[in-house]
Amino acid sequence: MKKQKIVVAYSGGLDTSVMVKWLKNNYDADIITLTGNLGQTKELNGLEEKAIKSGASKVYVKDLTKKFVEDFVFPSLKAGALYEGTYPMATAIGRPLLAKALVEVAEKENATFVAHGCTGKGNDQVRFEVSVGALNPDIKCLAPLRTWEFKSREQEIDYAIKNNIPISVSKDNPYSIDENIWGTAIECGVLEDPMAEPPEDAYLRTTSPENAPDETECVSVYFEKGIPVSVNEKDMDGVSLLNLLNEIGGRNAIGRIDMIENRLVGIKSREVYEAPAATILHFAHQELERITLEKSVMHYKSLIANEYASLIYNGLWFSPLREALESFVDKTQEKVTGLVKLKLYKGTVRISGRKSIFSLYDPELATYTAADQFDHSASEGFIKIFGLPYKTIHRVEQKSSNEKTALV
Ligand code: ARG
Repeated sequence: MKKQKIVVAYSGGLDTSVMVKWLKNNYDADIITLTGNLGQTKELNGLEEKAIKSGASKVYVKDLTKKFVEDFVFPSLKAGALYEGTYPMATAIGRPLLAKALVEVAEKENATFVAHGCTGKGNDQVRFEVSVGALNPDIKCLAPLRTWEFKSREQEIDYAIKNNIPISVSKDNPYSIDENIWGTAIECGVLEDPMAEPPEDAYLRTTSPENAPDETECVSVYFEKGIPVSVNEKDMDGVSLLNLLNEIGGRNAIGRIDMIENRLVGIKSREVYEAPAATILHFAHQELERITLEKSVMHYKSLIANEYASLIYNGLWFSPLREALESFVDKTQEKVTGLVKLKLYKGTVRISGRKSIFSLYDPELATYTAADQFDHSASEGFIKIFGLPYKTIHRVEQKSSNEKTALV
């Protein structure tokens, strides 16, 4: 019988390195690793060699950064998708793309299995497995971390040493970190106590507000149909634009998020995030929508934003509802074109100006000067009809209570 093949989502960390060997030992299969670059700052050098030494027979390293930014990050930005109004979802948006890449390699290699290194109590296992199933239901998912014998990091390290798996235990990071161009998620260690302030060493890409420059930094962002296309009047591609805003935001302490969030698996968890570019862009994009979107579209879109965020968070990127909402969002973005000027200062982002050729802000209607064109007299009739139901309610209530009193 032909040997089975398993395609492993490989990060090069302890869990996935141990997993490669563990799968080889337990499944008698050829292990193929796939590492997707989503624009993380961590070097991917040496990963290939490490995977081979851990037991892989073939290694794929794919740069998915451009695809990630254009097909996943920007749609979510246009939608205004922030989970529970706060988390820009760098991790959550990355999983469906990694799942897609896994499925593509599995199909190419004729593999029946894919494997991921997610634990049994997080959201990521759901995102991976639901996405894989939606893209190719014949591929089976393995999640060794849910079933294997290791109960601690130490036991995994022992196994790694016994099996000659190269691991870097020297720099023992107490945190569990997931990172890409849209942000960093930091968990575990002291962060598990919701009352404990995250220590400075938990943050990797932002300065603290206390250490940020004493001068305000100005930055302008130009959007075309809801997509950021230039910063400080310089046109750039999405990847360069995000890298630049991460740098500018990072040095001004922008995008530190400390939140308790509701996981899909039913628990509350304490999460610390760093998302400088995402924070700046969500803010700027919303400010531009304030002058370009008609009121009812803007109000309705905020409901969609919430739903869109939940779909992404809950692993339903590849779902008909998300796709349908994307069409709605794209329609709303047709006129979200214009410039937003911002001021960054010690962890805060403020707006200093906005303009658009599609701006619905009409100075002649808004002004309190003699140039005013607003028809003040029309307000009288408007208020009469607008307030009519409430007058009626009052009268009916009064009448019924009078009748009740008369009955007694
Ligand atoms: N709680 C976040 C989410 O579900 C982040 C998970 C990130 N994982 C990590 N290893 N830190 O999207």
